[in-house]
Amino acid sequence: MDGGGRRVGEKRTYDHIARIYDLLDLPFEYRRYRPIRRILFEGVGGAVLDAGVGTGRNMPFYPPEGEVVGVDLSARMLAQARKRNARLGVAAELRLMDAMATDFPDGHFDYVIATFLFCVLDDEDQLPALRELRRICKPGGDIRLLEYAYSRDPLKRFVMRLWSPWVRLVYGATFDRNTEQYVDAAGLELIEERFLFQDIIKLLVLRPRHTKGH
Ligand SMILES: C[S@@+](CC[C@H](N)C(=O)[O-])C[C@H]1O[C@@H](n2cnc3c(N)ncnc32)[C@H](O)[C@@H]1O
Repeated sequence: MDGGGRRVGEKRTYDHIARIYDLLDLPFEYRRYRPIRRILFEGVGGAVLDAGVGTGRNMPFYPPEGEVVGVDLSARMLAQARKRNARLGVAAELRLMDAMATDFPDGHFDYVIATFLFCVLDDEDQLPALRELRRICKPGGDIRLLEYAYSRDPLKRFVMRLWSPWVRLVYGATFDRNTEQYVDAAGLELIEERFLFQDIIKLLVLRPRHTKGH
């Protein structure tokens, strides 16, 4: 399947589950994700992009000032995000857009955040997606990704493997994208990599690499 076809598949997956996404994720959201979303947004300000905003789970942690834009491929996920936006009274612009081909100008954002987006993107889309985020991030800006990885602990790994067909079916996601392997080719520098939940959810902080002549 080509990139366009894959994107139609991703959109369809999330259009289907949009209304129950928060419910499906509820136990994970409160036990795992909330505390780490807070860490992810520490010090974030200025022009901020939430790529693959989903139902807006990051919204409680958006900076109160500055420009915050959330984009998503799924209109139905965005509709849920709009409801959350109205409920929380957060000043964020929400736009239907492919994070891999945005219409933002070069070097626009101080911070580009993507939580559990790259685990959904197919292996072939990892590099083009990182390149696009690099293009729209300011030199010296931060790209912060929250992603899954398989645990090194044999028992936890085994349990994750049992879960993985469900995760693939329902979310179109996998635990083993290894996004960091594409960082260099995308013209990015890996500033920080650390686990925020056990050894299965990690934070990657990336920055556009200086190239000669820039
Ligand atoms: C697993 S959900 C994560 C949602 C949210 N970031 C969160 O932390 O709860 C992945 C989201 O990425 C969106 N998505 C997938 N591919 C995308 C793309 N190419 N451009 C923009 N959004 C995309 C999906 O529609 C979905 O809302």
